Amino acid sequence: MKWEHRHLLGIEELTKEEILLILEQAEGFKEVLTRAIPKVPTLRGKTIVNLFCEPSTRTRISFELAAKRLNADILNIAAASSSFQKGETLKDTIKNIEAMNVDVIIIRHACAGAPYFLAKNTNVGIVNAGDGAHEHPTQALLDIFTIREKLGKLAGLNVSIIGDIAHSRVARSNIWALTKLGARITVCGPKTMIPKEIEKLGVTVTYSIKDALKTADVVNVLRIQIERQQEVVFPSLREYTRSFGIDKEKLKTFAKKEILILHPGPINRGVELSQEVADGEYSVILDQVINGVAIRMAVLFLVSMARKENEEGKEI
Ligand code: CP
Repeated sequence: MKWEHRHLLGIEELTKEEILLILEQAEGFKEVLTRAIPKVPTLRGKTIVNLFCEPSTRTRISFELAAKRLNADILNIAAASSSFQKGETLKDTIKNIEAMNVDVIIIRHACAGAPYFLAKNTNVGIVNAGDGAHEHPTQALLDIFTIREKLGKLAGLNVSIIGDIAHSRVARSNIWALTKLGARITVCGPKTMIPKEIEKLGVTVTYSIKDALKTADVVNVLRIQIERQQEVVFPSLREYTRSFGIDKEKLKTFAKKEILILHPGPINRGVELSQEVADGEYSVILDQVINGVAIRMAVLFLVSMARKENEEGKEI
């Protein structure tokens, strides 16, 4: 299996084999991260730009660390302190960065489709670090990497994704990834947070937290994204927490004895996830963060190698 993409824009366009290739590559890089000197010269001479037009802690730092572990040069651009503030367009910004001979741009943007637009308009490799409510491919990759690492498989698992499915790029990318790899997915939340016709993506819908928990091997709890909601879609946070918040009591009453709890972060503690569960025995939230670095090393490596082959005139 050979990686042939100059960009990583979304999980939707990847095959099962391509997803497995990223996981396999990330396993190798995870071993690198355990060494006394956790660095390899793989991307020495490459220049990578982290262009974040929305806030981020985990993804931005994780990409930066991944680039540094691969010996690439990395530059960070935050929209708030850039010439976006003077009205420069995204296309002009990217053209100027490209003129400085960079290899890969990692972009997070509030507009769904922004990374696709850039991929069409530049020769730089584009990696999507989250575009609006559309996709967050590296988050889904680190989620499935963590599940497979902990449970030894993905096919046949029951995964429940709970919360604000309608506004969640994490949900969308996880649904694409997990269905391609043979997991069964249930999405659960208030009716106002479940998009119409989501069943067409091959998932089961339930509005009952009991049903979502009773068969789940894995529960991926989503953050309530107040900032993306144009309208009030539940009566109050307290009401949401009472019905859908994951706490010890609901796990004890409804869930299997062994379960994995994932959350992409940042957590609204005491809203979608109780303190006890977030820090408890079933939580793999910090494992997700550790695995995020290995996944992002794999993505930067594969995208950079495909670009190199393209520059050398090989058919890709
Ligand atoms: N999971 C995630 O995307 O977190 P950040 O917004 O902190 O990057």
